[in-house]
Amino acid sequence: MKIAMIGAGYVGLVSGACFADFGHEVVCVDKDASKIEKLRQNVMPIYEPGLASIVKRNVEGERLSFSTELAESLEGCDAVFIAVGTPSRRGDGHADLSYVYAATEEIAESITKPIVVVTKSTVPVGTGDEVELILSKKLNSDQFAVVSNPEFLREGAAIDDFKRPDRIVIGTEDDRARAVMSEIYRPLFLNESPLLFTGRRTAELIKYAANAFLATKITFINEISDLCEKVGADVQEVSRGIGLDNRIGAKFLHAGPGYGGSCFPKDTLALMKTAQDNESPLRIVEAVVQVNDQRKRAMGRKVIQAMSGSVRDKKIALFGLTFKPNTDDMRDAPSIAIAQTLIDAGANVTAYDPEGMELAKDIMPAVEMMESSYQAATEADGVVIVTEWDAFRALDLKKLSGLMTGKALIDLRNIYDPQDVAKSGLEYTSVGRA
Ligand code: UDX
Repeated sequence: MKIAMIGAGYVGLVSGACFADFGHEVVCVDKDASKIEKLRQNVMPIYEPGLASIVKRNVEGERLSFSTELAESLEGCDAVFIAVGTPSRRGDGHADLSYVYAATEEIAESITKPIVVVTKSTVPVGTGDEVELILSKKLNSDQFAVVSNPEFLREGAAIDDFKRPDRIVIGTEDDRARAVMSEIYRPLFLNESPLLFTGRRTAELIKYAANAFLATKITFINEISDLCEKVGADVQEVSRGIGLDNRIGAKFLHAGPGYGGSCFPKDTLALMKTAQDNESPLRIVEAVVQVNDQRKRAMGRKVIQAMSGSVRDKKIALFGLTFKPNTDDMRDAPSIAIAQTLIDAGANVTAYDPEGMELAKDIMPAVEMMESSYQAATEADGVVIVTEWDAFRALDLKKLSGLMTGKALIDLRNIYDPQDVAKSGLEYTSVGRA
């Protein structure tokens, strides 16, 4: 199969590289000429483990190429995937679809043979209908079919998620499109990843419902963890105790400082708006959005409380800034609100993150970025573990304690055993554990 992927961002690049790895011929198209130039030199625009080597292998095998020109890239293609950004629209939280529609207009101008147009970007229910309408103004109905094929990739684990998915959702009512999509995903199907064929609107909603459900699961356990602290229970054990019930499942029950990233905050908001517009409000999702927003600053207050109620003129080191490990993504990271809360309360904040500092330094200019965790903690009154990078899981706690002026270790990801920390002389505060 020959495939064009519009958008060489996170989703487009990972999907394009993996399709090429299956043996398809893929061209990734992006308007950003410098990004395309860098990709041709195997410089990745994002940090994603394993991506650079897959890109290199497939470029060398002449299955993967990069271009800024959509029209010529579409020549001979069986399918074109739209994988451009759908950020939250300023002001109302709806998904901004202008990039999706602009890409569609360009496809309508450029195609020379019948093609399957696939939306991979996360788009609200009904967007496929709009895409179809735009195409039908320029093309006959036998020249195209529109499919929804949402992605379920986690940053930091995207290659594995793509190659070993729990399921592949394909939303279309068109038999030819079904055949093309089956052929594209055949390597995975042989691996026994179920292909789930649905209507197009259903596929669009599955994506939002999945992310909203996962965000709900996290927010639920976060609220339970607050209750654990009040009643002297242990949230880790509550998570295990409920997660062993197959109906609930163990994943996404890790209490922490709240979810962030490029998907959950934006998608929950967009789903909430769609629901309100359709006079079918999703009150649970509304509550999740509100609780999660408030939690981020609440974590800053938790740190203050752990430091005897005041951080004025105290030095606090943040370990980890990205919204989760194995990414450089700072979008909606809880660290942003936590740092600001501490700065507002008069603290001097230093930080270390293995990959995120380049992007973080512009977002939090008042935070001093350091070269290592130990350097960040030197003469600190308190250390806060914000993101659970592996590098923070086996710190030399005695050394850390020796470098610090104060003794507070606040672990917002519960990656330490309270008894181990006690031996080092540090005073430990974690989430949802007495
Ligand atoms: C998510 C979805 O998992 C993916 O399927 C979708 O396509 C895009 O959005 P991602 O944002 O990369 O992926 O990260 P994920 O691993 O899902 O974590 C999201 C946020 O939830 C992070 O801030 C993480 O720290 C938090 N989280 C996750 C928890 O606080 N507790 C958990 O148990 C799991």
